[in-house]
Amino acid sequence: MGALDERLDLLYRLGGGAGANRIAGGDAETRACELVSEWLEEAGLEVERDAFGNVVGRLRGSRPELPEVWTGSHLDSVPDGGRYDGALGVVAAIEAVIAVGRAERTLGVVAFRDEERGCNGSLAAVAGGRLPGRFVELHVEQGPVLERLDAPLGVVTSIVGSTRREVVFEGAAGHAGTTPMDARDDALVAAAEYVLRVRAAARAIDGAVATVGRLEVEPGAVNVIPGRVRLTVDARAPDADRLGQLLEALDLGPGIDLAPVELDPTVRAVLREELERLGLPAVELPSGAGHDAGVLAAAGVETGMLFVRSLNGGVSHSPDELTSDEDVALAVDALTGALRRLADS
Ligand code: GLV
Ligand code: MN
Ligand code: MN
Repeated sequence: MGALDERLDLLYRLGGGAGANRIAGGDAETRACELVSEWLEEAGLEVERDAFGNVVGRLRGSRPELPEVWTGSHLDSVPDGGRYDGALGVVAAIEAVIAVGRAERTLGVVAFRDEERGCNGSLAAVAGGRLPGRFVELHVEQGPVLERLDAPLGVVTSIVGSTRREVVFEGAAGHAGTTPMDARDDALVAAAEYVLRVRAAARAIDGAVATVGRLEVEPGAVNVIPGRVRLTVDARAPDADRLGQLLEALDLGPGIDLAPVELDPTVRAVLREELERLGLPAVELPSGAGHDAGVLAAAGVETGMLFVRSLNGGVSHSPDELTSDEDVALAVDALTGALRRLADS
């Protein structure tokens, strides 16, 4: 087992449970940041934490006055998440930056915190104003496109826009045995109708998706009519117009949490050329998942993303997430080549 694989394993096991359990703000995420800081220090990088807790390791360039070039991803996971989501981009970044060595521009490896709940780590980094000039995030695809195309790697063209909201339904709690059916105000029935509306609205808009992922019923007893339901909606679309239509159809009001973004044409071209150098098809594809790269791109950083093929039909946010060692090795090679060029120009 190579260093990268061992590190992925260590990170995967930190939180215990059936999958990755490095929930943002929890002990396992904190421990993951400490471990990555140790690895960066061992590799001779200068390690720093920003006010939010994001970790940045720097390998100073020969022209440190130039804007920096960073690579990395996030260290938190969803509950029982996969082995690769976020973590792969961080451990691969360490390998790639070591392989590049000293370049003209300062190279940085970044491990963002708190991505899964809405890219809070990268948003904090943007608010803090200490950004690189260029950023490349390596990440598993988390979908089936590359597997279907038999392509190990892909270059991301754009990142979906998204909005998350909590919706509350108020009804009247009452006795499940004595309240006639025509005298009920059941909050869960109203919520159930809304869940179906969420699905129908997203289906009616090309490229849109929407999910109700959490639903809490109060008081939550077998013999009590639900008096209150809280649910979450995660709504996404490839552009602001379609996301706006979706939010309107769901009565969620305006307001995009994470703007849809196109990634930088120059960085994309560099990544495509690296795939060609490796004899791979230069596949390009959009991302339906949100990423810290999208936040940096929206803040004006020249940003690119390299996707690595997800196996098992592209399943992600699940312990069944799988990517092969061979594809990871190709991805590290492509990332190394891209960083070398981006840091010397
Ligand atoms: C991040 O994983 C997302 O929800 O897109
Ligand atoms: Mn991720
Ligand atoms: Mn994720």
